[in-house]
Amino acid sequence: MLRTLQYIDIITFQRDLLEWYDQNKRDLPWRDNQDPYRIWVSEIMLQQTQVDTVIPYYGRFMAQFPTVFDLAAAEEQTVLKAWEGLGYYSRARNLQAAAKEVVASYAGVIPADPKALGSLKGIGPYTKGAILSIAFNMPEPAVDGNVMRVTSRILKIDDDIGVPAVRKKFEAVVRELIPESDPSSFNQALMELGALVCTPKNPLCTLCPVQAHCRAYEANVVSTLPVKSKKKPKKKIPYAVVLIQTASGNHVIEQRPDAGLLANLWQFPMVPVGEVGNDHIASWLYQEYGLALEHLKHVGALKHVFTHMIWELTVYTADLTDETIYDKRLKAVTSEALQTYPFPVSHQKMMHYIIE
Ligand code: ADE
Repeated sequence: MLRTLQYIDIITFQRDLLEWYDQNKRDLPWRDNQDPYRIWVSEIMLQQTQVDTVIPYYGRFMAQFPTVFDLAAAEEQTVLKAWEGLGYYSRARNLQAAAKEVVASYAGVIPADPKALGSLKGIGPYTKGAILSIAFNMPEPAVDGNVMRVTSRILKIDDDIGVPAVRKKFEAVVRELIPESDPSSFNQALMELGALVCTPKNPLCTLCPVQAHCRAYEANVVSTLPVKSKKKPKKKIPYAVVLIQTASGNHVIEQRPDAGLLANLWQFPMVPVGEVGNDHIASWLYQEYGLALEHLKHVGALKHVFTHMIWELTVYTADLTDETIYDKRLKAVTSEALQTYPFPVSHQKMMHYIIE
């Protein structure tokens, strides 16, 4: 047995946790049934996004793409539009690529095999374990940050969860804790405990169904766990974003490159003012895109925080002196058409400057 587990009575721990989950679990739309496609979509959406944010997106997404065949057959822009606002858009692109693979290689049946499932795009160890356990009742660990927080406290594990290799240790521990009888409920119960009771700050230990099993509680060190090394500060990158109107009142938008950050999404033209300076916005746009602008006017500012950096955006409006757009990356569209393209959240937030 793993040394970490020598103090815990696994059987009563499982019983206490499962009993609590049975009585306290939230009624969430992906808990309606165990359809692996529904579970898969939910787990991808929930990876970097809060439950409350996910719920309405999930409902719309499942209505629009009810089966893996619908998702596989959709236009990528349609999928990105459905994902618009959830962020981390490579999740959506990978999900669709994997859906195509499931249709092409597995006749549309999501494989219940760890190796086959784990080889699909966007399905890492966490998502693989979540689908195998929640949808297929297999005793596989599904360890994300929440589950590491919960188990680090219960078992008083002080390894640094910021170190990628440490997740493997937690997987080995959770593997020993999962009951064969109901892996689906058990893994969801760990997630639920992390969401409702064993929260990052001010955990509700007095209400905790497994307080009697918690070594961190016993040692009065709950607030020191999990150990997570400080990340280095995010790099700030300043851009000027220019909302350009053509002579006939259309709006100039640009499609981002098909790889990298926010790939294939649409945006208003962005000027790297950290490199070119605030005084050269119009001349940079002329050199880069051949756009001849007038009436450049500062209208606002906003920030957008990504995993590794921060966009510091200053927002301008400007007029194009004619209708002619030469650059292939750009398009001029009406206010109504603007709403049909997928934009990053930061650019969505600017639209009020140009549309009532
Ligand atoms: N977070 C990640 N997966 C979840 C799930 N299935 N239910 C609730 N929260 C989650």
